[in-house]
Amino acid sequence: MSDVISEKFVRGLPKAELHLHLEGTLEPDLKLKLARRNGVDIGQSTVEDVRATYRFDSLASFLAVYYPAMEVLQTEDDFHDLAAAYFRRAARDGVRRAEVFFDPQAHTARGIPLETVILGYSRAAREASRIGVHADLILCFLRDMSAESAVETLAGALPYKEHFVGVGLDSDERDNPPEKFADVFALAHREGLHVTMHCDIDQIGSVDHIRTALTALGAERLDHGTNIVEDPALVDLVVENRTGLTCCPVSNSFVTEDMKATEIVSLLREGAAVTINSDDPAYFGAYVAENYLQLARVAGLSRDEVAQLARNSIEVSWIDEDERIALLADLDAYLANV
Ligand code: HPA
Ligand code: ZN
Repeated sequence: MSDVISEKFVRGLPKAELHLHLEGTLEPDLKLKLARRNGVDIGQSTVEDVRATYRFDSLASFLAVYYPAMEVLQTEDDFHDLAAAYFRRAARDGVRRAEVFFDPQAHTARGIPLETVILGYSRAAREASRIGVHADLILCFLRDMSAESAVETLAGALPYKEHFVGVGLDSDERDNPPEKFADVFALAHREGLHVTMHCDIDQIGSVDHIRTALTALGAERLDHGTNIVEDPALVDLVVENRTGLTCCPVSNSFVTEDMKATEIVSLLREGAAVTINSDDPAYFGAYVAENYLQLARVAGLSRDEVAQLARNSIEVSWIDEDERIALLADLDAYLANV
């Protein structure tokens, strides 16, 4: 019999969010405010008008809306305010640790200096500790840009290395396999940075991309990655290594035909370090607690399984060991008292 999973229980669970694009937290009201502040004509003047543009049914059609929306982000304060609004929402969802993606090339390509982006986001991340969220940044490369541009981006960001803990890979996976970025990931490893990468859902070559990421490029986590169920040997590998899979059920239901609940739950029950995250919550209408709840309801998860998802998120996060132990103790104390 499945337990009744309440919103209160899910929000109260201490958890880590590990798959969140800061640019994907641009809510319509903030977009309008920033457009006004910067004198950018975005062609919409109400929240409803902006929301009406947030429509898509595939990764490519999502990205076609997502990147142009970023033009309202111009100053260091804009980047700060975007991230600060996300951290406030995350705190309300029980997020105690957030490792959040940002896409520097989406801004430098528009003439915004890298420093503006990094310093704005980083200031908000540091301030988030005041509301109980320990946050760090993950710099992502746009895989539909060149491998040389990725290397230039990382080289340009290294003077700001204290502001990010790792690197990732996102944007359009079609014809942009992970091996295209072998050089930049090798550089990241040499610099002691953590490494993760998107292996989006149902892409051409998904399983090959997952294999390359895990066995040739040193990925410590996979973002999405649920197509791994098609290769039992790879599932054994991630179970054995406790490789984190950062799944995003509500996002999946927008860009593919369903939430991929069957795949996510079968991986969880096989012992993979499955985690639940919100991806681009302003666009998909669900922050992290809502992702836990929707998956729990669709899949009939037990309370123990929901708690295991939160435990996994802490276990595969890139925090210091003493903080991990403290956060796991908080989770255990919470579970003992509900
Ligand atoms: N996949 C690829 N690119 C992205 C995503 C995603 O889930 N979200 C924002 N950019
Ligand atoms: Zn993503």
